[in-house]
Amino acid sequence: MTASDKSEAYILSHIDEEGELLATLYRDAHVNLLRPRMLSGHLQGRILKMICRLFRPERILEIGTYTAYATLCMAEGVDDDSLIYTIEINDEMEDFIMNYIPRSPHGKKIKLFFGDAMQIVPALGETFDMVFIDADKRLYPAFYDLVFPLVRKGGIILADNILWDGKVFETPPPGDKQTAGIIEFNEKIRQDARIEKVILPLRDGLTVIWKK
Ligand SMILES: C[S@@+](CC[C@H](N)C(=O)[O-])C[C@H]1O[C@@H](n2cnc3c(N)ncnc32)[C@H](O)[C@@H]1O
Repeated sequence: MTASDKSEAYILSHIDEEGELLATLYRDAHVNLLRPRMLSGHLQGRILKMICRLFRPERILEIGTYTAYATLCMAEGVDDDSLIYTIEINDEMEDFIMNYIPRSPHGKKIKLFFGDAMQIVPALGETFDMVFIDADKRLYPAFYDLVFPLVRKGGIILADNILWDGKVFETPPPGDKQTAGIIEFNEKIRQDARIEKVILPLRDGLTVIWKK
């Protein structure tokens, strides 16, 4: 076991459990889905829930539902009258997702949409207290421009995977549009005077942005 594995095991054994439903979802994803690493998991899920407890957002937008693991975690953390809009482009995930959302006591807070977030978000007609960007890395700058006007002043935007397995430290090879997208996003955030921002070195890097 590496030092970082030991540290993760220690942390996971000293924080809130993810609960039976999410543990079942996690196992199901690892047995039946191609890229289970994409889901947030125990630690990031509890952090998302805690952010919701602390910040108490009434309207959340998630771009990139995948299994709805993170969606369910955020739903646990928000008040009963809050809503989470979550968008997934791959409608083949519907059966998987719908096997879990209705089983959560917090499932009623979740509004699930299938399609491209670039098209769906403008049609929602909502403004948001919190946005979680966690989809196509090539589109991170475009997602940011899309959601920024819809986030209220004092609202937050979270963006996942902004270290991209360390690939952002080097110039990406030609054709690696995902790494290029994240590098462009990180630079955009660095230069944006309308926000305050910090990068949490959690998993693959989570940027937390506060709109002034
Ligand atoms: C990293 S996974 C999301 C994981 C989830 N947020 C979690 O933390 O458990 C990214 C998802 O974004 C979806 N996606 C990619 N491009 C998208 C787009 N333009 N609109 C909506 N969803 C998209 C992918 O199909 C994939 O399921």
